[in-house]
Amino acid sequence: MNYKKLLKSKKFKIAIWGTGYIGLSTMVYFSKEKIKCVGYDIDRKKVRKINSGILPQADLKNWFGFDITKLVKNNYLKATSKYSELISENFLAHFIAVPTEKNGKPYFKALFDVLSKISKIRGKNIKIPPIIVVESTLAPKVSDKKIIPFFKKKKLKLGQDILFSVAPRRDWFIEGVKNLKNLDRVYGSTDIKSAKVAKDVLSIVCKKLHMASSYKVSEMVKSVENAYRHMDITLANQLSLAFPKDNMREVLKLVGTKWNLETFHPGIGAGGYCIPLSSRYILSQVRDNNKLTLLRETIKTDDRMNLLVARSIAKKGYKKIGVLGLSYKGDLKVSVLSKVIPLVNALRKNRLNVKLFDPYFTSKEIKNILGVKTFKFPNDLTKFDCVIVSVDHKKFKIPAIKLKKYLKNCKYIIDHDGAWKNYNLKNNYHISGDSGWI
Ligand SMILES: NC(=O)c1ccc[n+]([C@@H]2O[C@H](COP(=O)([O-])OP(=O)(O)OC[C@H]3O[C@@H](n4cnc5c(N)ncnc54)[C@H](O)[C@@H]3O)[C@@H](O)[C@H]2O)c1
Repeated sequence: MNYKKLLKSKKFKIAIWGTGYIGLSTMVYFSKEKIKCVGYDIDRKKVRKINSGILPQADLKNWFGFDITKLVKNNYLKATSKYSELISENFLAHFIAVPTEKNGKPYFKALFDVLSKISKIRGKNIKIPPIIVVESTLAPKVSDKKIIPFFKKKKLKLGQDILFSVAPRRDWFIEGVKNLKNLDRVYGSTDIKSAKVAKDVLSIVCKKLHMASSYKVSEMVKSVENAYRHMDITLANQLSLAFPKDNMREVLKLVGTKWNLETFHPGIGAGGYCIPLSSRYILSQVRDNNKLTLLRETIKTDDRMNLLVARSIAKKGYKKIGVLGLSYKGDLKVSVLSKVIPLVNALRKNRLNVKLFDPYFTSKEIKNILGVKTFKFPNDLTKFDCVIVSVDHKKFKIPAIKLKKYLKNCKYIIDHDGAWKNYNLKNNYHISGDSGWI
């Protein structure tokens, strides 16, 4: 049975559980291939927006590069807050894209809520077994320790009643080309039938698939690839701490010109869903942590960076700190595990007066997340003696003459992503990792 053909016939649909960045992008890419997609979300506001053709995450507009209204109008894209709509033989594939982490730790509530709902297909006398594709990030061994025993408990036979594949995502929601279609996709399944069907379904959108020998491998790939990045970024930080008087930023930039190396730059630490968690996910499954001392040290140094930056600013005697950016990456509204959060906390612990501006967050959101007030950009920059630019949101790049005027009282700048690197600022400007930045 060719699931690709069946889905293309329009008699069958794809169900997506969770319509955030990952789930919505799955829905949009499959529906663009004229496959009917229905996304379920507990967030009714999101559901309403999607059904009106509005992107709940406005920052995804640039990434997609096209409008979703037509897809909604032509009935290819639909969202619902009634999960029972997805429990029928019309759905050949169930993509899971709900959060699997909370406060920096693996989190299973949403995942098992969704799996319980999907497992209700058991009583429905379904002839073609549907495939579950887990796109959410799983820590190594979660499938073996939790998901597969769950199916057993529900009396669902893998490869027979239900098919199962783990296919983690790698998208980079900042650059449109790094998307579901173009990026290499690894997937691994529980049995031969699941592997064949996963390929059938994923190949509708993904151009380059790599089949792992099992779900255990694809599950681990996600954490290991990010743990490598975590370690590399942290080595850049350790180097800059070990040689504070040298321009490690420049050294690392030139190191990256070697054919088999990449450039990693020092900063306030690694943020976002994936990288800071990867090393923790791996360590959480290892009995003897001494076997992975590199990852242990990575976490320790990475978590300490914000404290060291805050301490160095306090030691230099600056009192009024303006922070630009809460997101963990430029032009994205994601504050999950953003290193700006512990940085602001550390600055406040050092009794410094901190305010933060981020064009993607309202003053209420900033207050809720950080407990500090926002300020007017660029006008209020005059009020600070130290400015930290933590991400390179486009909105921060105002004309140089204007910026210099507002920075007239600022005596120290740390620019993490180099948003102002070409402005020739005289206010003791430092790009993170250069000589004397910390
Ligand atoms: N965003 C990324 O860059 C990225 C990259 C790779 C992997 N991931 C992984 O993908 C998963 C989802 O991430 P995201 O960025 O899409 O998150 P998100 O917060 O943008 O979206 C998650 C969605 O799931 C919904 N949800 C929560 N509980 C639910 C439930 N019980 N039933 C149905 N819907 C529920 C939320 O309302 C939300 O709309 C996570 O495991 C994350 O680690 C994310």
